[in-house]
Amino acid sequence: MKAWAYNPVVEARLNFITLAVRDLSAARTFYVDGLGWQPALWVPNEVLFIRLSPTLCLSLWNAAEFETEVGPLSGPDGLAPFALAHNVPHEAEVDAVLADAVRAGGTLFKSAVKREWGGYSGYFRDTEGFVWEVAHNPGPIGVELMAATAAPAGGEAAVEVIRSRRSVAQGRLLAGPGLDHAEVVRAVESARWAPNHKRTEPWRFYRLDGARQRRLADLWAEQLERTGSKPERVEAKRTQWASAPGVVVVTCTSSATADEKTRLEDYAATACAVQNFCLHLWAKGIATKWSTAAVEEHEEFWRLLGHDHEPADTRVVAFVFYGLAAELPKAHRRLAAQDVLVDYRA
Ligand SMILES: Cc1cc2nc3c(=O)[nH]c(=O)nc-3n(C[C@H](O)[C@H](O)[C@H](O)COP(=O)(O)O)c2cc1C
Repeated sequence: MKAWAYNPVVEARLNFITLAVRDLSAARTFYVDGLGWQPALWVPNEVLFIRLSPTLCLSLWNAAEFETEVGPLSGPDGLAPFALAHNVPHEAEVDAVLADAVRAGGTLFKSAVKREWGGYSGYFRDTEGFVWEVAHNPGPIGVELMAATAAPAGGEAAVEVIRSRRSVAQGRLLAGPGLDHAEVVRAVESARWAPNHKRTEPWRFYRLDGARQRRLADLWAEQLERTGSKPERVEAKRTQWASAPGVVVVTCTSSATADEKTRLEDYAATACAVQNFCLHLWAKGIATKWSTAAVEEHEEFWRLLGHDHEPADTRVVAFVFYGLAAELPKAHRRLAAQDVLVDYRA
C-alpha cells in the first residue's frame, strides 16, 4: 500500500499549446506539407490542430482571433504570442480550476464564457504573467483528449469509468456540437456484450427520434394526469422528458415458455446491458439518466415503439436519457465495501 499520495489542487496537465500565427496558410504549409504532421482539425483562416500525443494538441490560431479572445500581442501590456490550455472533462470544472489557480497565487485574466466553437473557457495568468486557458471542449478532439487523460495504464481505465459515472437528471443533459449521436449506436455494440444465461440476449434498444420522444413525454404526462399527479408535476415531467437531447428505451423479452427463474435472469442480463451502455457513453463524455416510469401502462405506448399491441413476455427495463452533462452531480452516499462484503478470506 502507498504510504504517501500526491494530491494536487489542479492536476498537473497541459492539453493545448496555442500559437498565435499571422499567416495561417503559411504555417499549415510548413507543418503539414513540410514536416508531414497530420492535421486533426483544419478550419481555413481560423485554426489548425495537430495532435502531438494522446493528451496534447498543438493549435495554430489566427492571431487576430487570438487577440480578440485573449488580448493584444504587442504594446506594453502585450502577451507572448502563445497560450497553454488545461482542459477539463465537464463544463462546471472550468470555474473550479480557475478559482484554484487564483487561490494558488495566479490572477483571473478572463472569466469563463461560452465560446462560439461550442465550449466554455476562461484564462488565468501565473505569477510570471504566462497565460493559461482552462477549457471544456465538448467537440470530438476535446472529448478524445479527455478520454486519453482519463485512461490510466492497465485496467485502471475501466475502474475509473465505473467509479466516476453519475446519473445526470434529464433537465441537466444538454445538446451541443460535442454530442455525437452516432456514439449511441456504438454503445449498443458494447451493451450486447453483457453476460446472459443460456445466451437468451433478451434486450432490445429503441432509439427515439425527436417526434417520438415528444410523444413519449406526452404519454407519460397523460398517464401521470390519469393517476392523479398534481398539474405542476405533470408539466415538469413532460418538459424534462421532451427536452433531454436523446432517449433510448431498453426492453427485455423472455421466451413464452420461460419459467420465473429464467425471466429473472433475463431481466438481470438486460440490466447489465443497460449498465454497459451507460458506461460506454460515460467513457466517451456522454452522461445518462436511467429512468423507469409507468408510461408503459399507457395503451398507446407500444405503438410508439412500432408494435401493434403489447408484445408478449416483454417489459421495459430502462428509459435511458442521454446528453452532455451541464454539471457533474455530487456522488451519492455509498455503503463502504466492508459494509457490503462478507470476506471469509480476510
Ligand atoms: C432500475 C433503475 C431505475 C431507476 N429509475 C429512476 C427513476 O425513475 N428516476 C430517477 O430519478 N432515477 C432513477 N434511477 C437512477 C438512480 O436514482 C441513481 O442511479 C441513484 O440515485 C444513484 O445515483 P448515481 O447513478 O449518480 O450513482 C434508476 C436506477 C435504476 C438502476
